Amino acid sequence: MTRIAYVNGDYVPIEDAKISVLDRGFLFADGVYEVTAVLGGKLADYAGHVKRLHRSLGELQMDMPVSDDELLAIHRELVKRNNLDQGGVYLQVTRGAADRDFVFPKGVKPSLVMFTQARELCDVPAARTGYKVKSVPDIRWTRRDIKSVALLAQVLAKQAAAADGCNEAWMVEAGGVVTEGGSSNAYIVKDGKIITRPVSNSILSGITRASVLQLAKERGMEIEERAFTIEEAYAADEAFVTAASTFVMPVVEIDGKQVGGGQPGPAVRRLREIYIDHARATAI
Ligand code: PDD
Repeated sequence: MTRIAYVNGDYVPIEDAKISVLDRGFLFADGVYEVTAVLGGKLADYAGHVKRLHRSLGELQMDMPVSDDELLAIHRELVKRNNLDQGGVYLQVTRGAADRDFVFPKGVKPSLVMFTQARELCDVPAARTGYKVKSVPDIRWTRRDIKSVALLAQVLAKQAAAADGCNEAWMVEAGGVVTEGGSSNAYIVKDGKIITRPVSNSILSGITRASVLQLAKERGMEIEERAFTIEEAYAADEAFVTAASTFVMPVVEIDGKQVGGGQPGPAVRRLREIYIDHARATAI
């Protein structure tokens, strides 16, 4: 069965899904994206992703080419046409196609492209063995709160991590302070406290992050929203990342140093279970 993508109003086989070479996403990375997890054929934490999409678009003064109702309908149609049980829906909105000029073009319709990716999200070996992480300098721009398709710094970070046999990169600012993962939010657990950087322009406000912190709070787990250093992470009891693509994933090694004895700890195992239960129960 060939995969079906959505391109500006049409459902087409992925190999025929094409946009103009003048698309500003292609020329300037002038666009934003979202990745929504699909569980049991339903969309997990969907409302949060749509809310963040509108925020990203607003920050870039970009219009959305379809209504929220239409957007949900397209998500569902893609899941249906691709017979997707578990995985994700990728969506990208760009400022559209116009002759190359840095300044915003007038009267150009934004472009909307969406496709699905099938992937096991729950029963994954890495959730049992844990991720290895490599720290790299955070060389990104200062508006990391916008979910921009300009991901070259993350491509380089994750490639450096992969080349060292690691599953994720943790990006580190001056002073050794961790911002976030290459495509995830970063956490440590120390003395029973879940420590993660507060939301600001320095990191992406993760939708999984928001749910996980809310669920942890409801269960009386202690949370400290503050920046932490990579040195603190080496000495942490547990570490983990969250993202729509991985949910809650334990980290057992950072820069070759074992964290928490090199095994996923009790807090992260509990949070993963709680989050997956929540995602299943609230998926639409
Ligand atoms: N990335 N921080 C960064 C830099 C990310 O790219 C992501 C997600 C997150 C986690 O956000 P959320 O919980 O809303 O997925 C944090 C997606 C999954 C990606 O680029 O594939």
